[in-house]
Amino acid sequence: MLDLINNYKKEIDKLQINNASELEDFRVKFISKKSVINDLFKKFKTIPPKEKGEIGIKINVLKTIAKNKLNEASCQLKKGTVLKNDFEDFSLPPRTEDLGSIHPIRKIKNKIISIFSEIGFSIEDGPEIEKDWYNFTALNFPENHPAREMQDTFFVERDPDIVLRTHTSNVQIRLMEEKKPPLRVIIPGKVYRNETVSSKSHCFFHQVEGLFVNEGVSFKDLKDTLYYFAKEMFGKKTKVRFRPSYFPFTEPSAEMDISWKSGWLEILGSGMVDPNVLENCGLDSKKYSGFAFGMGIERIAMLKYQIDDLRLFSQNDIRFLKQFRGAN
Ligand code: PHE
Repeated sequence: MLDLINNYKKEIDKLQINNASELEDFRVKFISKKSVINDLFKKFKTIPPKEKGEIGIKINVLKTIAKNKLNEASCQLKKGTVLKNDFEDFSLPPRTEDLGSIHPIRKIKNKIISIFSEIGFSIEDGPEIEKDWYNFTALNFPENHPAREMQDTFFVERDPDIVLRTHTSNVQIRLMEEKKPPLRVIIPGKVYRNETVSSKSHCFFHQVEGLFVNEGVSFKDLKDTLYYFAKEMFGKKTKVRFRPSYFPFTEPSAEMDISWKSGWLEILGSGMVDPNVLENCGLDSKKYSGFAFGMGIERIAMLKYQIDDLRLFSQNDIRFLKQFRGAN
């Protein structure tokens, strides 16, 4: 009997189970009621009691081996079928349900980046927690000047002040301090202001800053660049108009409007970099000049996609986000 048990054990070890019918054969031969192992148990009853101990253990071990083999083989076969379907059945419909979509803010940001990249602007980045110097003072906001009130600021520390940047213009200063002109950059990023939007407080939004500094940069360059941008962004027929404005760090300053439906809509602030700002960054204002501009990404996204509530951008409502699948 011991020989028989050993032979079955060897047979199970060697056996390859390649498909469902071989699995069933295995089950019938080794596991079912009519299995050879059950026959062994029947014979077991007839052997002399002295031999029972060792043989009993061996049959039980064989039974366990057979069960394990069955489990393993059936798992392997299941895995195999799933894989086969995934990789080989190209006629199955694509599974699109779980696909996300790019957030509208990111879409517009990418579009702005690609428009300016084509005319030689590179992309830069800077900190969102910022020293007063970079967010205000170097940008020609005198201390205690009412211009600071235009941007309701979150303070991280006082004296010396550290703020959540209220605009991306902080990076203008960092770049001009670090690098010599020519500088031709755009700076997309998050900015923070304590603004109230219809009873809900709203504390951050996105901007793209632009800066071009070199010898002989003129207001004409500013207008050409921004006109080009408006046409690429909103369509070739778009008209623009510049209105005089005020920012401490640009002189002269202008807001740009685009023609929209039957009227005009403001989309960005801009101007020639104030000579004080160039000097604050160690650049000779007699030699260099430049222009800068800043726009809110939310505003542009709202125009492009006709969205009327700013809060939709940050609520993460899947019904809203799904609408931007495939949108340009
Ligand atoms: N930083 C200004 C704002 O946030 C926009 C701006 C940038 C204006 C660059 C002029 C030049 O309102």
